[in-house]
Amino acid sequence: MKTLVIGANGQIGRQFCELAHEADVPIRAMIRDTSQQAWFQERGIETVLADLEGDFRKAFYGCDQVVFAAGSGPHTGPDKTLMIDLYGALSAIDLAASLGIGRFLMVSAMRADQVLEAPAKLRPYMAAKHAADAHLRASRVPYVILKPGRLTDEAATQRVTTDVANADDNRISRANVAHALLEVVRNRELRQREFSLLDGNTAIDEALR
Ligand SMILES: NC(=O)c1ccc[n+]([C@@H]2O[C@H](COP(=O)([O-])OP(=O)(O)OC[C@H]3O[C@@H](n4cnc5c(N)ncnc54)[C@H](OP(=O)(O)O)[C@@H]3O)[C@@H](O)[C@H]2O)c1
Repeated sequence: MKTLVIGANGQIGRQFCELAHEADVPIRAMIRDTSQQAWFQERGIETVLADLEGDFRKAFYGCDQVVFAAGSGPHTGPDKTLMIDLYGALSAIDLAASLGIGRFLMVSAMRADQVLEAPAKLRPYMAAKHAADAHLRASRVPYVILKPGRLTDEAATQRVTTDVANADDNRISRANVAHALLEVVRNRELRQREFSLLDGNTAIDEALR
């Protein structure tokens, strides 16, 4: 029972891979460049070389779950938003459906469904995340969608809130998102669930119950 991690070399991805590996959760890290392999090999983490903009079907073989933590990032244009955050995510969901993958765990974004309320610069990204989430909901793949707020590089507190309407702040550390992903990966009962996620005061397993 292996989990394919798409976006494994990212800031959330690496932290999640380390946590999962330490917890003896079998994973396969999907990375797109051989220069990224050493970091994973040093830790004994399996890798597969594949690109969301190419044919990445082979990456799924032998996996029964997928974590999608990839993203085009803030330093690229709308072309990459379209190709990675939208098309890459849709392709991953379609592959998961066609291969009978057991669960798809999506890292989305808080308020991705409120596209027009986002700052103009962020709207294409929010629209891509919104469409990817909708595609996942409409697919036949069991899913969990995590919707973190603005990401920070703070250390993990392992305490979060899903009650974003009453939260004082709109941020969450990437480290806490990685811990939340680990909780979801391990808790196989969770499916057809969506959680907005911010730093907070509740233990992660309790918040995601
Ligand atoms: N920034 C925010 O405030 C915010 C808020 C809510 C949600 N999110 C979401 O959080 C997730 C991850 O955040 P992060 O900070 O960990 O991002 P990150 O460090 O930029 O990591 C993104 C990863 O996606 C990979 N990627 C990009 N294009 C790819 C492609 N064509 N094929 C395969 N992989 C590709 C990158 O690969 P390389 O390492 O090879 O470049 C990188 O490893 C994203 O889904 C993002 O949309 C972000």
